[in-house]
Amino acid sequence: MDDKLGLPSYEAVAGSGTDTRRSRQRPRRSVRRSRAIRLLALACLGFIVLAQWYQLLRADNADPRLSLEKLNADLATCKKLQSKPKNPIGAGRDKNARYIDGGKPTLIKNATVWVGEPVKGTSDADARAGKGWEWIQADVLLEHGLIKEVKSGIALSSLPDDTVVFDAAGRQLTTGVIDMHSHAGVDSLPELVGNDDTNEMSADVTPWARSIDGITPFDKQIQTIKSGGVTTSLILPGSGNNIGGEAYLIKHAVGKPDGRQEVSATDMLADPDRNWRYMKMACGENAKRVYGRVGRRPYSRMGESYEFRHAFEQARDLNQKQDDWCAKAEDVGVENMDEYLPQEIFWETLGAALRGQVHVNVHCYTVPDLEAMVDHTNEFEFAVRAFHHAHQTYLVPEILNRTWGGRPPASALFADNMYYKAEAYIGSEFAGKILYDAGLTPVYVSDNPVLNAQHVLFEAAKAYHYGLPYHAALSGVTSAPAELLGMGERLGKVKAGFDADIVVWDSDPLSVGAAPVQVWIDGTAQFEDPFELEKPLVGPLVPNESLGEIVEEPTGFRNAIFTGVTRAYLSDDEVYESDEGFSVVIFEAEIACVGVCRFEIENASSNLKKVDLKNGWITRSFTGVAGTIGLNDIDAETSTDNGDNPVVFSRAVDGLALGSKKLHVAHKYGVTKAISAPTFSGGNTHHGTSVGFITSAETTLDKDAIFASDVAVHYTLDLNVRGVTSYSAAFGGLRQKLLVAATNDAPIVDPFSEAAYLKKVIDGEKVLALTIHSVEGIATALRIKSEIESLLKTSTTSPRIKLAIIGGAESHLAAKELAEASVGVILSPLQSTGARWDQRRVLTGAPLTNGTAVDILLEAGVLTAVGLEEDWQVRDLGFAAGIAYKNSNGQVSEKQALDLVSINAHKILGAELPAMEAKKHFIVTEGCPFEIDSRIKAVGSGRDEVALFV
Ligand SMILES: *[C@@H]1O[C@H](CO)[C@@H](O)[C@H](O)[C@H]1NC(C)=O
Ligand SMILES: *[C@@H]1O[C@H](CO)[C@@H](O)[C@H](O)[C@H]1NC(C)=O
Ligand SMILES: *[C@@H]1O[C@H](CO)[C@@H](O)[C@H](O)[C@H]1NC(C)=O
Ligand SMILES: *[C@@H]1O[C@H](CO)[C@@H](O)[C@H](O)[C@H]1NC(C)=O
Ligand SMILES: *[C@@H]1O[C@H](CO)[C@@H](O)[C@H](O)[C@H]1NC(C)=O
Repeated sequence: MDDKLGLPSYEAVAGSGTDTRRSRQRPRRSVRRSRAIRLLALACLGFIVLAQWYQLLRADNADPRLSLEKLNADLATCKKLQSKPKNPIGAGRDKNARYIDGGKPTLIKNATVWVGEPVKGTSDADARAGKGWEWIQADVLLEHGLIKEVKSGIALSSLPDDTVVFDAAGRQLTTGVIDMHSHAGVDSLPELVGNDDTNEMSADVTPWARSIDGITPFDKQIQTIKSGGVTTSLILPGSGNNIGGEAYLIKHAVGKPDGRQEVSATDMLADPDRNWRYMKMACGENAKRVYGRVGRRPYSRMGESYEFRHAFEQARDLNQKQDDWCAKAEDVGVENMDEYLPQEIFWETLGAALRGQVHVNVHCYTVPDLEAMVDHTNEFEFAVRAFHHAHQTYLVPEILNRTWGGRPPASALFADNMYYKAEAYIGSEFAGKILYDAGLTPVYVSDNPVLNAQHVLFEAAKAYHYGLPYHAALSGVTSAPAELLGMGERLGKVKAGFDADIVVWDSDPLSVGAAPVQVWIDGTAQFEDPFELEKPLVGPLVPNESLGEIVEEPTGFRNAIFTGVTRAYLSDDEVYESDEGFSVVIFEAEIACVGVCRFEIENASSNLKKVDLKNGWITRSFTGVAGTIGLNDIDAETSTDNGDNPVVFSRAVDGLALGSKKLHVAHKYGVTKAISAPTFSGGNTHHGTSVGFITSAETTLDKDAIFASDVAVHYTLDLNVRGVTSYSAAFGGLRQKLLVAATNDAPIVDPFSEAAYLKKVIDGEKVLALTIHSVEGIATALRIKSEIESLLKTSTTSPRIKLAIIGGAESHLAAKELAEASVGVILSPLQSTGARWDQRRVLTGAPLTNGTAVDILLEAGVLTAVGLEEDWQVRDLGFAAGIAYKNSNGQVSEKQALDLVSINAHKILGAELPAMEAKKHFIVTEGCPFEIDSRIKAVGSGRDEVALFV
């Protein structure tokens, strides 16, 4: 009510303010009204009568207080409520609605093009089976924000003079990658409390929340993600709430440098006409963790189901009221309605979802969550477009099949990121293939910043590695999400009439380390001066269907011969390379011979398993370092964890617990040794002495389970110390402890105490391993090292403290100093996202930066290794080495790359032990282990048997 004018408001004149409109139909006149007001009221009445006169249709009993204009607007809203969006068309447009006048046409010449659909005439069944999909040689013409033509030999002479020409020189071209699960812009990096707009956690049910209201175009990550070829992302609210709110589909072009006029979230909308809407819901652990406590819902999954059903009930009721109103308005004429159309912002989005206008995306991991949500879809009759984090969908295609609407939801997946919480404990890297075989659709997503969306394509590549057919994997980040978003006629394919979002790649998009050479959004090149990696032009991968023949569990064997081996990278003096192929004999689970091996074959022939390899490789096995394997089974479950301790210095060996799922997986993927330290405060932090152990040991009682009880002495001095103290106090405290150890001559009473291990650091017997990301932190550590060293220096001795850095997101900025001080770095991870303030100066790689940290460190001569930032990465160490190798412009050799994930961690932390000899710890692969289509065939792990995958 607006009383500012000093006059009673319209409603106050009409009746007592709190009545319903209906009861105010016959207002009682006040006898004490002033003459002026009476006149005004009369004038109003006169106006209304006049209006009625003109609106002859308006019956005598119409409510005079309702605005006819608004009633008509409401009637128009009825049309909108009852309309069913259609997928916006692509073909036939003169220009993209996002096109900005003045843009120049672009001709991309001589590309190898993935159209994104099989050739015309391919049957659906054949297409699904992978037939008819091919790379074609073509030129691609972009104009008015659209792909105009895709064909070979487009003559430049036929094009406008200002046409920009890009020579792809035969390289591979695809449409821009689409990530249908991202929080870029709302969960900006580096993380700052003030910028976190991911979850509207004021309540569990917030259908009214809209991600667009929080998208900051300045999130650096929007540009970083684009540098991985991602042009379009669905920005979802987080998963803290059961009903999180509305999501928006954006393109990664912001402001003038990206060819836009505005710096605004609206300008980023992929479909300015907003044909489809999107929303996010989430089942499972999160909502009950965030909101549940005694007396407060949802406490359990039962409470969550109630929250969902109650919300759907409210939205359904609103829809019913609206439909009744609309029907009546049609029936009696809108001018005769006695109330306005019922509308409630709170339930509007959910109501629209029940009307089929919103593509619903639901975060749901487990079978009970999936089943409950599928039940809700049938009770309230709405479709689900995709289940996200759908780790267990591969186990229950028949439940998905029961989803309302006759179209089972797709599964939005990570390729192999799991075990981080109870609902992620059951999962399979083969899920994509299994779902696809069941007639369902896997798509690959980042959940940025959970995974760095810059590399979401690599999720699809790994899906291919794990058996999903090549075309389905590439579709899983292009045409499949486009279709699921209702944008399948505009995005996700390289065809005339589609939006001109294009990437030219430096290598096959599903190969390890693939990076864009250039990215176009709506026809505008996005990188002015891109760094381009030197890679040989080898053409597309030949899809290898044998990757789909999955051997999930190995068999054990003691004696075997592998033929067709072309590379052996074992100890430093055992390097064999021959494209002819040679043999490797394994005798009693050890490498007995590499080469011709006649004697060994004869000797062992009785029960010698023969495996013929094509391009076989035998390498050292990998070492999982700086993760929590051996100390944790499920990251978020404290009962499975050794526990954090920022205060008490302890020995990992005292908390070691073997036989976990993570360790089993590690072993299968060639990680046969691990070095783990107790955590300071969560994953990727360290405090105490690390333990070196064998991943295949079932318990710590097993013979040789532990190869080094106390490897290195660990402290964490990264952002996590801020949970306990200040940086300056933490570094000062370490200096003080080292000085005490250096100057205290009293005999050590407890040889397992912190003081005893620090004494060994002072004596150069143990490595001091510091977990630090920022360059300033590294600089301070180097200064403390030299301060202590100079204090200890006598005329005859110059002691050296052996230092190592773990983490090292910004270590490239100190590469020279680290090399001079002989300090090794365990990059954890290999490619930092720069998620936190102390990591923000990261190098994200081509096309944005000239190399990444590993390149700068190796060039400077720093001994470098790759750590496990998160434990699921145990499957991917071979690929990590592959990325370092392939993206090094030829500066890193195959052997050096393998050392990054095997021996270097031992050298850096001082864990070079005889038991680690290469003869017992090895990996046999078919194909180079850096390649996406390589396969592990055997793993030797220092045990009595070798694991064989055939
Ligand atoms: C296309 O690129 C390939 C590889 O660089 C080159 O061999 C070929 O000659 C080029 N074709 C044309 C028509 O430019
Ligand atoms: C899904 O339902 C359809 C139609 O009822 C049926 O043909 C198909 O076999 C079902 N698939 C699964 C996996 O249950
Ligand atoms: C597929 O991989 C298998 C096993 O590594 C190999 O024998 C076969 O030659 C490969 N096929 C193609 C087409 O590369
Ligand atoms: C082969 O057999 C001989 C005689 O039994 C034995 O001395 C030799 O060590 C064996 N070689 C291998 C590689 O096992
Ligand atoms: C990239 O870095 C390498 C190695 O540091 C250097 O040799 C090269 O000149 C740089 N390239 C560019 C384009 O700056």
